[in-house]
This record gives sequence, C-alpha cells and structure tokens, in this order.
Amino acid sequence: MTDAPRDTTANETGPASRPYSPGLEGVVAGETALGYVDGERGRLLYRGYRIGDLVAHGSYPAVANLLWTGDWIPDHHLPTAAIPRAVMTVLRALPPDAKPMDALRTAVSAWGAAQSLAWPPTVEQARALTAFSPSALAAIARLRSGKEPIDPDPSLDLVAGFLYQLTGSVPDAATARALDAYFIVGAEHGFNASTFTARIITSTRSDIASAVTGAIGTMKGPLHGGAPLEVVDQLSRVGSADHAEAWVRDAIDRGERLMGFGHRVYRAYDPRAAALRTVAEGMEHKPDWLKLATEVEDVVLRVLAEKHPDRPLKTNVEFYAAPVLMGVGLSPDLFPATFSLARHAGWTAHVLEQAATNRLIRPDVNYVGPPERDLPT
Ligand code: ACO
Repeated sequence: MTDAPRDTTANETGPASRPYSPGLEGVVAGETALGYVDGERGRLLYRGYRIGDLVAHGSYPAVANLLWTGDWIPDHHLPTAAIPRAVMTVLRALPPDAKPMDALRTAVSAWGAAQSLAWPPTVEQARALTAFSPSALAAIARLRSGKEPIDPDPSLDLVAGFLYQLTGSVPDAATARALDAYFIVGAEHGFNASTFTARIITSTRSDIASAVTGAIGTMKGPLHGGAPLEVVDQLSRVGSADHAEAWVRDAIDRGERLMGFGHRVYRAYDPRAAALRTVAEGMEHKPDWLKLATEVEDVVLRVLAEKHPDRPLKTNVEFYAAPVLMGVGLSPDLFPATFSLARHAGWTAHVLEQAATNRLIRPDVNYVGPPERDLPT
C-alpha cells in the first residue's frame, strides 16, 4: 500500500496538481526507431522507408523482417507455422460461436503456455509467433464453420499460406498480393493503444506471448481495430449514393461516429488509406459497393469539414481496409482478427525494442478522490 496518498492537502489531491492529458494525447511516452507517423503531413515510414514504396516493392515477410532486424531483404520468405497439439486442443474446446478476436487472443495465450519463452525476447520468438497466428486464425474460422483445419504449406509465403489454410485453395497471385498489401500497411503504427499495451507488458519482463495476448485484447475495441467491420455495416445502412448526404448529416446530428474517419494522430489523409484505395481500385474482384464507398467518402469528408472546421477529420486506414478484405473473400467477422495478424510484426518488433532498452513503464496519476478521512463509526 505504499502508493496511497499520505499527506492530503488540497493542492496534492486536486485535479490540477500535475498537468494531465486525457488519453495521453500529446504525451511522449517513449522512443522508437521502428515507425514514424507524421500526422500533420500524412506520412508513415517504417525504419525510414515510405509506406507507399514498401507496398509497391515489398512483401509482408520482408517488412516484418525489416521491423525486427533493420535489414531490408526484399525476397525474405516466411511461411505460416504448424499449430502445436496443445493449442489445437484448446481451439477445439472453444464454443463454436466464440468471436474470432477472443479465439485468437486465447490461441496466442495457449501458444505461449506451450513454449518456454525465455527473457529477453528474441527475433526467433517474434518470427515464430507471427508465423503461428495466421494458422491459428485459419483453424478458428474453419472449426467454427464445422470444417477441419488445414496444415501449413511451407512453400507459400505467410499471407498466401493464411488464405490457403482458410479456404483450402491456393489463392491467385493478385488476391494474395492485395491481402499482402493490407498486411504491410497494418504492420506498424507507432505508439497506438495495442502497441503501447505490448510495451507495458514487456516492460515488466513478461514474455512475448503475454505482450501480444494483451495487444489483441486492446485491439478488440471498436475505436481501435473494429472499424472495418462497422464500415461495412455503415455502408449497408447508407444503401445508395442518393441517401448519403441525408444519412451522414443525420448520423452526425445523433452524435454518431462515422467509422473509417478521424484519427488521434493524422490530421491529413491517412497514407495507409491512400495505399489501400489504390489496391482496392486495382482489384480484379472489387466488391460492388467500392463505388458507393468512394461516393460516401466524398460526402463524409465535406460534412465533417463543415461541422469541425478546427479539427481536420479525414479518411483513416479502416475505410479502405473494408473493400480490400471483402475483395479477397474474407468474411467481415474475420476483419478485426486479420488486422491483428498484420500488426503482429509491429507488436513483436516493439517488444524487442522495449526489451533492448527496458525500463518498467509506470506513469503517475493525479488523485481526485476524497481527502484522507476516518472510517464512519
Ligand atoms: N465521426 C464523427 N465525428 C468525429 C469522428 C468521426 N469518425 N471522429 C472524431 N469526431 C469528432 C468528435 O465527435 C469530436 O467532436 P467534439 O469536439 O464536437 O466532441 C471531435 O471530432 C474530436 O474527436 P476526439 O474523440 O477528440 O478524437 P480522438 O482523437 O479521441 O478520436 C478516433 C480518434 C477514436 C479514431 C475517432 O476519430 C473515431 O471514433 N473514429 C471512428 C472510429 C474509427 O474509424 N476507428 C479506427 C481508427 S484507425 C485505427 O485504429 C487503426
């Protein structure tokens, strides 16, 4: 109980006793050499490389390796990994209606229990966990629809391997490439809530599986990783371009958040949304509502600019993640968990970076409760 306030003068217990930024907005909580999110200019760099160039010339395994090691090896190969027997037993025991994010979080936790994960975390651990989770999510999706899991094909790279284990067919190159682009843009994004969670867990010298388990739990919230699912729902409620203006104004007047818009850091157009819009528009199997999405986007941006002239609210990555994920044939209930698969590279790279310069993360808090007092008698 050494943390309890002892001397409770008005100054020490009042909310103004130390500057506080709700949501830690604007607070610098660490240093990283991994990702640079330039919210004002709409730039995203991984170890200095522009996201657009990485999407155009890289692959998810090459990007993951870049984040872990700092080395750019464009043809780096990373297949999906087999699911340990104990983990498969756990997955089979889950209720068939368990949500994919809950099941993936459980799978990563069970994977950790099936390893001896020594401190400090290593690149090999990061690679093994990143290669395990796509197999786990594919197995979760198949088991919940009454199908048997499929073993990894080591000749396929991670994203093609994931689609193969999900569907039973090797995807065509364009489909695998589109999902790979989504994985690249989702790989890393500075001190977002789930990455910060992973770093806090790592700072206690806990293991990499615990850090990623916590990160998945954080990403589950709709304000972080659940948005593409809600983008699909929102577009189906809009229905057609003629209704967009009225629907958007109504939604804002009701105080609703328009999914796929706004960002804590970006004040300019999210560069990941731009990269995914290009991918979505170039896709062979475009979902029918891609056209509707671009029309709704124009209306939303115009109305948000009118309603919030002082706070630029632009399209975020989730808006165009939805058509790409639909276009490659993923069912919407798998969207948040697929985003988690992509973020494994960033989470695990941050775990390595945190461990390399570790200091326990333990911020202060302003006490705003009652002053010291006697228990009622
Ligand atoms: N639709 C309508 N209004 C919005 C939106 C939105 N999407 N986003 C922010 N605003 C408004 C708020 O109502 C607020 O208005 P007020 O000042 O009149 O109350 C103002 O803009 C500022 O909003 P904040 O909540 O302070 O912005 P914050 O930085 O906390 O929120 C967030 C960022 C959570 C992403 C927010 O923009 C949002 O809820 N967006 C919708 C959900 C979404 O798309 N999430 C995915 C984010 S990307 C990712 O996580 C990978």
